Amino acid sequence: MPVHNPSTTDLINSLPKAELHLHIEGTLEPELMMALAAKHQVNLPYATIDDVRVAYNFDNLQSFLDLYYLGASVLRDEDDFYHLMWNYLCKCREDNVVHVEMMFDPQTHTERGIDFAVFMSGFSRAMTQAEKEWGQSSLLIMSFLRHLSEDSAFETLAAAAPYLSVITAVGLDSSELGNPPEKFARVFAKAKELGLMRVAHAGEEGPPEYIWSALHDLDVHRIDHGVRSVEDPTLMQELVSRQMPLTVCPLSNIKLCVFDHMSEHNLLTLLDHGVMVTVNADDPSYFGGYLNDNYHALAAHLSINEQQVKILASNSFKASFLSDEQKNYWLQQILAY
Ligand code: ADE
Ligand code: ZN
Repeated sequence: MPVHNPSTTDLINSLPKAELHLHIEGTLEPELMMALAAKHQVNLPYATIDDVRVAYNFDNLQSFLDLYYLGASVLRDEDDFYHLMWNYLCKCREDNVVHVEMMFDPQTHTERGIDFAVFMSGFSRAMTQAEKEWGQSSLLIMSFLRHLSEDSAFETLAAAAPYLSVITAVGLDSSELGNPPEKFARVFAKAKELGLMRVAHAGEEGPPEYIWSALHDLDVHRIDHGVRSVEDPTLMQELVSRQMPLTVCPLSNIKLCVFDHMSEHNLLTLLDHGVMVTVNADDPSYFGGYLNDNYHALAAHLSINEQQVKILASNSFKASFLSDEQKNYWLQQILAY
């Protein structure tokens, strides 16, 4: 692996950063998965923790999602969701991720008979504790599974009604191909009416048309992934003129074979064209690294320099749902480096 400048390493580790594309269910480490499987007597097709890691070899998004939903099946009670969230927030503290906007997938749990009250209580307990203990800032994005129906998404939005004060935005994830954003136009319109912000996965495996659809049909504030936008110059211009953030996930893109190798990733092309790019971990337990690991991989294989690291960290705050005052505070902190 190419070696990068040690001062870039230090800068990546010590800069304050925000993370905007993170699936909390994707932070389930094999150790916790196996412990919870034993606790609840769930039969997984793995005998050891090493077997779990060996299974993490994916050909595409769907091959990952199959294991991701299987893994999530061990999450059963309030304490499980608390530990999942707590472990991730501790990792944020270690990586100087001072603010995080996390997706959770209610349907992954409600479809198994687990009620909103169970996971919302576990998540909130950990988030409140981290806020109290070290000032961790965090908020929640409720994501709809796009392989399920519009009706199911509407039911999920209705079930979330008692929790809307702790949900900032809605998102759209799961199997992209064959499930274009317009399928959820009416659900997102309702979410907007309810005062929720909006993000959607688009252009991870899907074509640029899906990104156009997320902009026009879902009225999103950010595009999750969006790396296939480079195939459409008009779309690129649109993203630049709107300063529409893309939440790019480098290690995820390699693990899911969106690019063959990190040295072929198009993050710098996007950045050089003036797109508002951010760096994120997506599902760190499954893709081999948390937020700082993603920055380090870019430094090692794309030779991003210190200036580019600072731009990416600044973008992470600019593209967040923080107030202007909070954004300015963190942007000033980065300027001091
Ligand atoms: N759910 C969890 N991670 C995802 C990803 N990278 N794309 C789509 N759905 C997801
Ligand atoms: Zn994602």
